[in-house]
Amino acid sequence: MVNDTLNRPMRDLRISVTDRCSFRCVYCMPREIYDNHEYLSRTDILTYGEIDRLARIAVELGVVKVRLTGGEPLLRRQVGTLVGSLSGIAGIDDLAMTTNALQLSKMAESLSDAGLDRVTISLDAIDDDRFRAMIDTDVSVSVVLDAIEDAVAAGLGPIKINAVVRKGWNEDQILPLAEYFRQTNHILRFIEYMDVGTTNQWKLDEVVTSAQIAQIVGSRWAIEPVDASYRGEVATRMRYSDGEGEIGFISSVSQPFCGSCTRLRLSAEGSLYTCLFAGTGTDLRGPMRAGATDADLTQIFIDVWNNRDDRYSELRGGVALPNPKVEMSYIGG
Ligand code: GTP
Ligand code: 5AD
Ligand code: SF4
Ligand code: SF4
Repeated sequence: MVNDTLNRPMRDLRISVTDRCSFRCVYCMPREIYDNHEYLSRTDILTYGEIDRLARIAVELGVVKVRLTGGEPLLRRQVGTLVGSLSGIAGIDDLAMTTNALQLSKMAESLSDAGLDRVTISLDAIDDDRFRAMIDTDVSVSVVLDAIEDAVAAGLGPIKINAVVRKGWNEDQILPLAEYFRQTNHILRFIEYMDVGTTNQWKLDEVVTSAQIAQIVGSRWAIEPVDASYRGEVATRMRYSDGEGEIGFISSVSQPFCGSCTRLRLSAEGSLYTCLFAGTGTDLRGPMRAGATDADLTQIFIDVWNNRDDRYSELRGGVALPNPKVEMSYIGG
């Protein structure tokens, strides 16, 4: 087990498998930048064998939770093959994926068969026009809603739904989203819009805080707190007092949770990042392709984690920012 400078162990590994996405969410991959963006090439990105090797090393060092992200992970060819090999690693208790669900319906069954435990689905609106405006792509919300049911049928539930709320864009969707997912087993989590990356031109006044969202939901249905399901849980849990389901709030702006942050991130091209708000990572692909042994790579992981002092969300505004900061579509959520 390795600890960082703030005594936090390494428990979660979030693996980005591609920097591409089928959506152009306005707060994540604005079209004016990403339609002409130079994406990573096939040789830049790690092979499944390379990812598997690094995941095994991370598990030896204490990782028990692995999440596949992107961009959009279902865009990576035959991602089920990677799921299959990762699910064979003894020591991973939880193997999850964050997806926009566009291609999930047809893949849910095979991902589940390959050993994926669950999926988390991004969905910021229930109204079709609002949804299209948020993702800036011509896709109907019914595609995502159907995929949620198909994922449950395939055994990938209960599903968490992540909804980023951005003022002026979708705060009118808070109640419709809550209404839709109440009385289902799916757990809707509202996420405060964060200053990740630089391309979204984030402004503090576009944040709708969890307290404000809870007030909006609570004025319609009474809600009450629920204990965290594990130490360091990112979302604060609440339930409807009438027993009709659970919702969550991810308050990285108003109530940062860096103190219990045990997350290490691996980019698609093989760099380790110790914080969502980091400017640079530590390259593993170079050493790996130059013949580094497992012991050499293990030592890089240990050094990176031992030197980690990140707590950006807690310091927000109080520290000079790396420029540019890494983008969410590159490092994953
Ligand atoms: P579970 O394992 O299902 O509990 O997942 P999780 O709570 O870690 O949530 P998920 O991976 O779905 O992340 C949801 C959102 O929380 C992300 O899209 C980010 O917006 C935010 N988030 C997750 N991890 C971090 C983090 O380390 N720092 C910050 N600032 N935000 C994070
Ligand atoms: N703030 C908060 N969450 C974000 N996501 C992407 N960009 C941001 C941001 N600026 C979320 C997506 C998805 C996950 C991959 O990250 O909505 O749920
Ligand atoms: Fe794609 Fe997710 Fe970013 Fe939207 S938030 S552009 S779905 S990676
Ligand atoms: Fe972890 Fe950095 Fe997020 Fe804080 S800001 S919770 S240290 S990833």
